[in-house]
Amino acid sequence: MKSEITVQVDGTPRRLTVDTRTTLLDALREQLEVTSPKKGCDHGQCGACTVLSNGQRVLSCLILAVTQDGAQVVTAEGLAAVGQCAEGDLHPMQQAFIDCDAFQCGYCTPGQVVSAVGMLEEFARGWPSAVTSGTQPPLLDRAEVAERMSGNLCRCAAYVNIVPAVQQAAPTAPQAPGKGVAG
Ligand code: FES
Ligand code: FES
Repeated sequence: MKSEITVQVDGTPRRLTVDTRTTLLDALREQLEVTSPKKGCDHGQCGACTVLSNGQRVLSCLILAVTQDGAQVVTAEGLAAVGQCAEGDLHPMQQAFIDCDAFQCGYCTPGQVVSAVGMLEEFARGWPSAVTSGTQPPLLDRAEVAERMSGNLCRCAAYVNIVPAVQQAAPTAPQAPGKGVAG
């Protein structure tokens, strides 16, 4: 069965016809040619496909595209523009990954960056993780970042630099793009 949907992708409305079994990841990559979300496992295990949907991080390989009709989806490609960074500037999280040398092959990086932006929004809202200690205000220490980013695997094991990158961007990262959009 086919369905027509309109999804705001990186700030641009995109209309497409999808099979109702098509995942958001496949719709983005194969129909819209938005390839920054990567297909690592296609089973919700690696985080390489992470995008923001209405401001929340989601695994696009586990979401049916048809459920995203009317949603605002942001990928690593649109993070800076939709996040209202100055023209030509990277999003602070992207810049932090470069500054901290937080990648090797880069395959996991778009998902890591998007996930980190969504994670900081969750942290700012006061959502606890399994290791949140209860200190006030809560600390975004190494254990906290590692736990909250544990859904994003890096086969190059760049974790030692990913954590400082996320911490570096924490004070400056703008609000998660798409936050507050109904859906
Ligand atoms: Fe989606 Fe691995 S491709 S979690
Ligand atoms: Fe290679 Fe993470 S940088 S998988």
